[in-house]
Order: sequence, then C-alpha cells, then structure tokens
Amino acid sequence: MLACSMAIAFLGSTAVRTIQEMLLAAAAAAAVLSLHALLFMWFFNRNGSSGFSSSSTAEEVTRGVDASGLTAIVTGASSGIGTETARVLALRGVHVIMGVRNMASGREVKDAMVREIPAAKVDVMELDLSSLASVRKFASDFNSSGRPLNLLINNAGIMATPFMLSKDNIELQFATNHLGHFLLTNLLLDTMKKTARESDIEGRIVNVSSEFHRYPYPEGIRFDNINDQSGYKRFLAYGQSKLANVLHANELTRRFKVSSFL
Ligand SMILES: NC(=O)c1ccc[n+]([C@@H]2O[C@H](COP(=O)([O-])OP(=O)(O)OC[C@H]3O[C@@H](n4cnc5c(N)ncnc54)[C@H](OP(=O)(O)O)[C@@H]3O)[C@@H](O)[C@H]2O)c1
Repeated sequence: MLACSMAIAFLGSTAVRTIQEMLLAAAAAAAVLSLHALLFMWFFNRNGSSGFSSSSTAEEVTRGVDASGLTAIVTGASSGIGTETARVLALRGVHVIMGVRNMASGREVKDAMVREIPAAKVDVMELDLSSLASVRKFASDFNSSGRPLNLLINNAGIMATPFMLSKDNIELQFATNHLGHFLLTNLLLDTMKKTARESDIEGRIVNVSSEFHRYPYPEGIRFDNINDQSGYKRFLAYGQSKLANVLHANELTRRFKVSSFL
C-alpha cells in the first residue's frame, strides 16, 4: 500500500476529458491517496468517490481506456512507481519516454516492457535530475525532436539521504526531487502548450509528492540556508523537497487558471 500523494496541474481548456483523468490515476501506479483517506478506506473497506480504493491498481483504473496518440514523459521510470506508471501507460497505448539517469537499467526495463507488450511504444532518454545541465540537455533534445507532449510525470525521487550536494552545489534531495523537476517542467511547457493547442486535448503535469510534505523543517522551506549542512535533518529535508513539489503544482494550477494560454 502506498502512502504517497500527487499534486497535479492541468493545462488547456476547461473541458474535462475522461481519458486524461484515467491516465492521471495510472500515473500513480496504484491508488494515490492521502494517509487520512487510506486509513478511512481501510477502516470502512469501501471505494472513494472515484469508484476506486487504496488497493486499486493502475491496470484496474485504466481498464478500457485507449490512450493511443498521447505522449508521456515519466521521470525515474527505471524502478518502482515510475516503472509501473510507464508500463501501464504503454499498455494503454501511450508513447512513453522514460527519463532515466542509468541508461543500462532503463533499457532493461524497456526490454521487459516490450516483451510483455509487443506493441508498446517506449523510448529511453538520459536524464539526471540532480544536474541542471543534464535537465537542460534532456529538454533540448526532446523539444528539438518535434514530438508532442501530453503528460509530464515528475516521479523520480530520493529519500532521506545523508547530507550531500548536487553537481550544482545544491542540497541533493531538494535538487533532485524539486529543482530538477521545476526546471524540466519550465523547459517543456511550451511544447506541452503547443500540443494541447494543436490537439485540443488538455495536458497534465503530475508531481509525485509524499505524505512527508506535511513534515518539513519547522520553518517550512529553508530558503536562506537550503545548502547548509548545519541543522540538516535527512527526513525533514525530504519533507521540504516534497512540500516544494506540492507548492510547485499548486502555483502551476493557479497560473493556468488565471491565464489560459489558448
Ligand atoms: N514508494 C512509496 O511508498 C512512496 C511514498 C511516498 C512518495 N513516494 C515518491 O514516489 C516517487 C517514486 O518513488 P519509488 O518508491 O518508486 O522509488 P524508487 O523505486 O527508489 O524509484 C526512484 C526512481 O527515481 C530515480 N532517480 C533517483 N535520483 C535520480 C536522478 N538524480 N535523476 C533521475 N532519476 C533519479 C531512480 O533511478 P535509479 O534507478 O537510477 O536509482 C528511480 O528510477 C518518489 O518521488 C518518492 O518520493 C514514494
């Protein structure tokens, strides 16, 4: 059972499109619910308003969905939730681009996927979210490929690591879980907007957060000393990075509500 939460930003017109709603559920690779909802459902053993429960699988919530024609990027697709998300999206016909830091394990996961789903459209591209240069290269390569982009699933993450700095000298959990995804999203936004405009299908950006977003440092995000080792607490730093995921998605949602790009 997963105790993670998702923050989602919607791009495009206001029309609700069932297919995307289903795919968002797949993006979590299982039911993605708040801890309170999980406890509630466990206690009462019943489905939520979506018709699904905490034990629903991604395959169950997307059954009957034909998502051919959509393109998704899934970060951290070489293991865990990212792999299952990529697998089920591919099963439903989505062209999946796996953004992975380890190309060898990414290719292994892709090969296993294609063995199971011969028609799967899956590509593997190198992406190290702890390096701003790598994020820029990935986005530049993707944008110049001319491919559309309907779904961006910001899933990759590290949890509660000892204090370390990224290649850009930023505290590693904040750099990987938030900053890399923040930059990636910004660099892919124009392509997502263009895709939404031309296809008349809403785009989705999914930030995979965590219940730990409720437990950052007492002051929230330590904007003035993000990169200081003194006072570093690995679980609070994880919570801080996951809080940033939620705030990022909230702000994207607010901006798209205020100003439609269409
Ligand atoms: N599992 C849970 O119960 C749970 C609960 C709450 C939230 N979450 C969130 O769900 C997401 C996925 O977690 P998971 O449980 O599936 O973890 P996981 O199995 O450890 O997978 C994490 C993925 O992120 C990738 N990754 C790590 N650092 C990266 C970097 N610098 N650049 C690119 N990719 C990187 C890993 O790549 P490698 O294979 O190369 O290491 C791996 O593919 C995370 O954001 C996590 O915070 C999970």
